[in-house]
Amino acid sequence: MSNVGHAHSASPLMYGGVKLYSGTSSPELAQSIAKYLNLELCERDIVTFPNDNIFVKLHTSVRGQDCYVIQSTSIPVQHNLMEMLILIQTLRLDSAARITAVMPYMCYTRSDKKDQPRVPITARLVADMIEVAGADRYMTLDLHAGQIQGFFSIPGDVLYAFHILIPHLEQLAKKMKDPVFVSPDLGFAKKARNYAARLDLPLAFIEKRRSSNDPTAQALTMIGDVKGRDCFLMDEEISTGNTIMTAIKLMKEKGAEKIYLVFIHPVLAEGAAERIAALPVTGFITTDTIPMSPEKKTLFGDRLTIISVAELLAEVIGRANKGRSVGEMFNE
Ligand code: R5P
Repeated sequence: MSNVGHAHSASPLMYGGVKLYSGTSSPELAQSIAKYLNLELCERDIVTFPNDNIFVKLHTSVRGQDCYVIQSTSIPVQHNLMEMLILIQTLRLDSAARITAVMPYMCYTRSDKKDQPRVPITARLVADMIEVAGADRYMTLDLHAGQIQGFFSIPGDVLYAFHILIPHLEQLAKKMKDPVFVSPDLGFAKKARNYAARLDLPLAFIEKRRSSNDPTAQALTMIGDVKGRDCFLMDEEISTGNTIMTAIKLMKEKGAEKIYLVFIHPVLAEGAAERIAALPVTGFITTDTIPMSPEKKTLFGDRLTIISVAELLAEVIGRANKGRSVGEMFNE
């Protein structure tokens, strides 16, 4: 990252050495983070017994060490979440000095409020579980809503893919015809505004309405002008793909030309990759907060660009270990 200085300076160590542990959900990303930090992932056994219980054993002691558990809590969510919690508890019981849950993607963040009677706030439950397991800190990227930070009483670093996506989008924008930045719903509008402002592009919004828990979203109204223009269409995550499909249908009806679809978290639930790949989209730009299978990558072919968050996470881990500011990486 061009605007990110390296963390390995002369500041004194606050904790023991960095110990990186990977769960089984995002091994390639964990490897890349380790590579940036010039470290090896620590050896551990993770076994799922025939009764579906998960068992963890560390190969070496972590007493007094600064430990990081890298695990995207993506599909299969229940398994990946439980695996991370068990890893954290194992480190706690082995007397780690500090434990950070590194979740490139945090699950259940769409359940962040009681917006109908008799429903849970599951994001709060997940935050509680992470703390109860023994984590001292957490690290994640682009939460569904910034306020979810308030569900934790431990400190955390919520990072933004903005810093790594912008250079790529800037290059693309140069090749686009009268580009406009489109938000597929009002929930993403504020972030879309930040991207549009940074790229110096006009903004358009789609008013989307969802009926209760029905994943079938309805794109209703376009606020802004896409006629005869190339568009960036961006959302935090694509799960079923319904939001994006309805958005693109509306954009095409309104005369949009080439569409570049940008999404931070490639959740891509069952059948979504097939549906999204079949859309009239010129380029798909996403990150590796959630790994994408080779089969899915093949569906998108050379229209797909995956921008890695490994260097960003590695840099922040290096700084956290040395007690250095993370904000200064972004001139904050
Ligand atoms: C919604 O609130 C989010 O920002 C995304 O629009 C949503 O998660 C996308 O879900 P789906 O792909 O299932 O429409």
